Amino acid sequence: MIYRGDPLTGLKILGTGSCVPNHSVTNQMLETVVDTSDDWISSRTGIRSRCIANGDTNLTMAKAAAERAIEAAGIKNSDIEVVLCATITNEYVTPSLSCLLQRELGLNEEVLAFDINAACSGFVYALNTAHSLLQKTSNKYALVVGSEVLSKIMDFTDRNTCVLFGDGSGAVVVKLSRRMPFLFNSGARGDNLVLNCPAIYESNNPFSQNTNEKKAGFLQMDGSEVFRFAVESIKKSIMALLEKAQVSPEEIDHYVLHQANSRIICTAAKRLGAPIERFFMNIEKRGNTSAASIPIALDEMRTSGRLKRGDKLVLSGFGGGLTYGSVYMAW
Ligand code: UT7
Repeated sequence: MIYRGDPLTGLKILGTGSCVPNHSVTNQMLETVVDTSDDWISSRTGIRSRCIANGDTNLTMAKAAAERAIEAAGIKNSDIEVVLCATITNEYVTPSLSCLLQRELGLNEEVLAFDINAACSGFVYALNTAHSLLQKTSNKYALVVGSEVLSKIMDFTDRNTCVLFGDGSGAVVVKLSRRMPFLFNSGARGDNLVLNCPAIYESNNPFSQNTNEKKAGFLQMDGSEVFRFAVESIKKSIMALLEKAQVSPEEIDHYVLHQANSRIICTAAKRLGAPIERFFMNIEKRGNTSAASIPIALDEMRTSGRLKRGDKLVLSGFGGGLTYGSVYMAW
């Protein structure tokens, strides 16, 4: 790696892309699977439907989102030098989704490609990692993807979780910029397992006991604990970030929060003292897509004409780990 040396401190998003499955599953459809109701789900979460993979894979969706982001950025696949995918649902332990994407997009062999596991905070962690890597190397363009097929780790007999999550991918192409700000703030609470998903490894190791013990690889969550963690950490993280940026909450044009629950977003808006209209929400038809939710939101905001050059953005993720992280940047 060549150290760049010049003070390019900010990060610019050149293009966005997203891809969600065509198959929309409504709350009414879930009523036929678990003891729930459209009224409970929509009033407690804001979700009315979510897209569920039906033939789509993490890779096919990530590839489509990445291609759209690269096209929107106006660059070629061969220009990409860093690929970071945030995901907890890659089909393989190895190779990473980033390496699979390198193959599918025909990217150069010299590309730096690896995955980031920070659950719903994954995309903002990946964006910050891309920013650091671009600053330390001579690389120009990074592709940052958040992509999940959460339906494959859902227990469709557990109404506490299966009604909340959806599948999809979002991607951005970024490069360093002298004129744009970029600040990041994060935290982890590894002592708290209220949101977890055990890995399934089928072992035939004859040298240790309990080798045949199989755990269901389903996501489990204590929703109200995570809710409390989310509202506390969003405020803490964003206030610390804005203080560092010397910007007040009212000066932010768009808050793009992880789409886990509309009540979390409304509570965050109140606690920050910022108008709710500045908080983008697509949870009604997307559900919670974990690491994919923020880049999907950015793409929907861009393609609907909601973003203007120079707009001040705060992105904020929170979830499994437990982790949280926020970014301050401009469009
Ligand atoms: O993206 C990662 C981060 N995840 C999150 O941020 C999720 C954060 N948590 C939440 O969004 C909310 O806590 C939930 C939506 C998960 C739950 O809402 P809540 O208002 O916190 O409900 P609760 O957990 O207090 O449950 C209330 C009741 C319980 O019944 P009892 O014990 O009071 O009789 C649940 O069994 O609601 C019941 N319940 C349901 N009822 C109908 C739980 N899930 C369902 C369901 N349908 N799907």
